[in-house]
Amino acid sequence: MPKKRILSGMRPTGKLHLGNYVGALENWINLQDEYENYHLVADYHVLTTDLDTTDIFNNTIEMVMDWLAAGLDPVKSPMFRQSQIKEHAELFLIFSMLITKARLERNPTLKEQVRDLNIENLVYGHLGYPVLQAADILLYKGEVVPVGEDQLPHIEITREIARKFNMQYSSDKPIFVEPEGKITNFARLPGLDGQRMSKSVGNTILLSDKPDVVTQKLRKAVTDPQKLRKNDPGRPEVCLVFTYHKKFNPSEIPSIETDCRSGVLGCVDCKMKCASKINLILEPILEKRKTYENNIESVKEILIEGEKKARSVAQQTMSEVHNKMLMG
Ligand code: TRP
Repeated sequence: MPKKRILSGMRPTGKLHLGNYVGALENWINLQDEYENYHLVADYHVLTTDLDTTDIFNNTIEMVMDWLAAGLDPVKSPMFRQSQIKEHAELFLIFSMLITKARLERNPTLKEQVRDLNIENLVYGHLGYPVLQAADILLYKGEVVPVGEDQLPHIEITREIARKFNMQYSSDKPIFVEPEGKITNFARLPGLDGQRMSKSVGNTILLSDKPDVVTQKLRKAVTDPQKLRKNDPGRPEVCLVFTYHKKFNPSEIPSIETDCRSGVLGCVDCKMKCASKINLILEPILEKRKTYENNIESVKEILIEGEKKARSVAQQTMSEVHNKMLMG
């Protein structure tokens, strides 16, 4: 049995936070033996919300260093920049004919961004964001797309576009498979204030934060607002730090739960326990990141290698597309 193929990606906005790790990257790493993998840096996608490209290269390197440091293996999981494979733009053009404006206007992630970023005049490319994402996935015939849950609407649009293409141009033998999204139990790890973790809000723990920074940040994390004093009984079910324990310290969950409820465990101690568990997980990542930081050239080479592999798959798919559509 050949392995199924994974295609996933992230926009390069710089260093990753624990939400990115838990929501997607950790999953990519855990799945990389079971699947054939392709991981893209969605650099053109960044333009949909930010035209300033001054930091885009640097942000790409920072993000890819996090991928590598966390354990994504460049041999098993080639990594590449979307912008370096021209076929993304080409398939995007074709796909943009296969979906209506009304359908894209119904995309919930678009509505959310328009609201959160106060966008008054939506650019054409932003409306087409999921169309480019569909091209990203289908160029590699990705069957499984491990992402955070916010991305599921885009996977649905990708499925619709694949279906439409197959129906219109290759009903005899479909060339595209409809991909499936794959999310983790912790598809959305909240930020230190209990809201969605996001760098623009400033409520993140970064994958590259040093131990003292992690401890400082956790000190300020929100807990049960009714637990005011150390020995007040607490409610783990409404506590953010308890959520972090569930993810990063599962073996101590029963005792933390009992001791929080009974008031034996104070929030400061509980937070320090949590910080040390997180630091234990981050320690090897920090260590490995250092070796890449000292050798940025090696990171660039990994991208160039990944781009060679990606390009040959992308070219093959485009030749199939041309044969079905344009060669009579
Ligand atoms: N839209 C994704 C995000 O913001 C990034 C992305 C671009 C992506 N192309 C992709 C994810 C293809 C999965 C597959 O996180």
